[in-house]
Amino acid sequence: MPITGIAEIIYGVEDFDTCVQFFEDFGLSKRHNDSDHALFEVVSGQRVRLYPLGDSRIPKSELVGPGVHECIWAVASQDDLDDLVADLSQDHDVTVDETGTAHFVTSFGQAIGLRVFQPRPFTCAPSPTNAPGVVNRMNVPRKWLSRAIPKTISHCVWTFLDVNEAFDFYSERLGFKMSDIQKGVGYYIRAGRSTNHHSSMLADANQALFGFDGKFRFHHVNFGVEDLDEIMAGKTYMTRKGYEDNGWGFGRHRVSSELFLYMPSPAGGEVEYGADCDQLDDNWRPRVWGAAFAAFTFVHDMPDWLKEHEPEWDVTYVTPETARYVPIKS
Ligand SMILES: [Fe+2]
Repeated sequence: MPITGIAEIIYGVEDFDTCVQFFEDFGLSKRHNDSDHALFEVVSGQRVRLYPLGDSRIPKSELVGPGVHECIWAVASQDDLDDLVADLSQDHDVTVDETGTAHFVTSFGQAIGLRVFQPRPFTCAPSPTNAPGVVNRMNVPRKWLSRAIPKTISHCVWTFLDVNEAFDFYSERLGFKMSDIQKGVGYYIRAGRSTNHHSSMLADANQALFGFDGKFRFHHVNFGVEDLDEIMAGKTYMTRKGYEDNGWGFGRHRVSSELFLYMPSPAGGEVEYGADCDQLDDNWRPRVWGAAFAAFTFVHDMPDWLKEHEPEWDVTYVTPETARYVPIKS
């Protein structure tokens, strides 16, 4: 199935000017800005668009609060787009706008777009890493970065009232593949033609451990950067601008292996600088993880629930008996 990743995310925001400044400081390239519409790009050409919450240009949906109200997913060709639209049109009201982007709303109230989009080619050159007895840099310092410049929009996460309903739609109708299940949290899914561990995470809105409140909300978006140096250069720059992280500081998730730094966003939810994420192909065998065991390999500022004891080993391959997420009761 043909989705390659994210083409554009469309925010509805409460404090428009503050959000424009935030994304500039975060490292996105501003392409357009007037009093009620801003457009940013990352290096790949993937886009972030901002409108004031309630603006008629934001697709209608059942999402509660500010955040990403529509994600426009990318396909590589018009043929791919036509195939998806033909299938979805059987039971959805699909409209195609003047740019050729298709829009529809799912039965669970999420606005989704589909667009022909090819990411812009770009190059990363992370500094080679030394270790005792392993010299990859002799007489060469690491790069000195003054701030982060996000390269990609890697994944976007929402909390759903019914995670299994969302998973069935994303997998059966849009061709996403299960990467992993986190017990009591939800599904990690990747677009059918992406190797990134997850293009989205379908999170259970009733999971109070991570602060979810039982509503269909935007949770966070991940911006891919080069390596840990760029994550921390971004954090250092943002700290000087007066922004704080989400209380965890720098860390690495055990599920996906991704390095992270999350910040609360004035645009709703959080933004994440990410790097060194697992890449998967169809040889990957999905796993089912304990929620706490999956969360962190290490984390700078440990949440209280992790301080009490180290989580026990809790990961197995998904089997037919464990392939379905077990919802938390509200
Ligand atoms: Fe994330």
